[in-house]
Amino acid sequence: MARPPFWLMRQAGRYLPEYRAARADAGSFLDLCYNPKLAEEVTLQPLRRYGMDAAILFADILLIPHALGQPLAYREGEGPVLDPIRSAAELSKLDVTRIHETLAPVYETVSRLSQSIPQSCTLIGFAGAPWTVATYMVEGRGSKDYAHTKHWIYSDPDGFGELMEILVASTTEYLLRQVAAGAEVIQIFDTWAGVLPDDAFRKWAIEPTRRIVEGLRARHPDLPVIGFPKGVGANIIDYVKETGVTAVSLDTGTPLHWAAQEVQSLVPVQGNLDPLLLVEGGAAMERRIAEILETLGKRPFIFNLGHGIVPQTPPENVARLAALIRGE
Ligand code: CP3
Repeated sequence: MARPPFWLMRQAGRYLPEYRAARADAGSFLDLCYNPKLAEEVTLQPLRRYGMDAAILFADILLIPHALGQPLAYREGEGPVLDPIRSAAELSKLDVTRIHETLAPVYETVSRLSQSIPQSCTLIGFAGAPWTVATYMVEGRGSKDYAHTKHWIYSDPDGFGELMEILVASTTEYLLRQVAAGAEVIQIFDTWAGVLPDDAFRKWAIEPTRRIVEGLRARHPDLPVIGFPKGVGANIIDYVKETGVTAVSLDTGTPLHWAAQEVQSLVPVQGNLDPLLLVEGGAAMERRIAEILETLGKRPFIFNLGHGIVPQTPPENVARLAALIRGE
């Protein structure tokens, strides 16, 4: 069996001492994202250690709201914090005119990477899906219940639709510019798609993503797009059929045999090792990697995690994973 390609979500990050050093040099996380030299450096760090088959641009899904003028800070131990926008009237706080000027350093990072990554390596650009980005814009931080965002979609869907229009347009343009700068594949992260009931999932997760994919394909008909609708269970099938993504990333909770039959029969899949098994390492991790390869490795497959690497991950476990995937 040929080995599958592999990369890991959040492969650049705090589990690597060299990342922590670069972040300290940059000053803050946002300064790191907007510093093309350092962002290029941290993108390359995991490749040097582990030789992944893909490099993912170092940036964050919340650069879009930041570039729209929404105040954003990343606080230690708390994650991102934004000044929340909770009604259509407050949308006037967003400024759509300067967004790509603000994001210019990100395009420069992509362009540098397209020159510096190993030839065998694929450069992945990315953005958050409008729904997931909107949850942060509306809640002002991570949330357990998305109460403010849900209140808005249920009480004033047209007003919320205006926010989504802004996000669909700016995200499509953001991704087109990444492709113009050298991104070869795009991944769209819809981390909080799984909190929506299915009619709302269709309206606020599938439809905006479908429009982004359509906008990308209008200019680049063959552009590969990977969707990551996390936590959506069986709704992943409609997501795949309706968004037009090329491949889909499976979260950790997706049953392997079900995914092989029902999802991999439609499109190539990516996933889905539990990031906490990568923390655990040893026999438990190795057993699960073998199961994933056995079940999904017979058809088009990209080995990855079911969500991002967590900071307490021992780097030597990532090295072991890389060796196992290569059959070493
Ligand atoms: O995968 C990569 O290596 C590329 C870079 C990348 C980051 N964030 C860097 C980052 C990518 C693809 C993301 C996506 C992202 N960002 C998502 C979708 C995927 C997911 O993990 O669900 C989301 C929801 C965000 C928003 C975000 N950014 C949160 C909630 C946090 C805080 C949580 C945390 O891990 O600290 C961030 C910060 C962030 N983004 C870090 C990194 C490396 C850690 C910041 C630091 O260095 O302190």
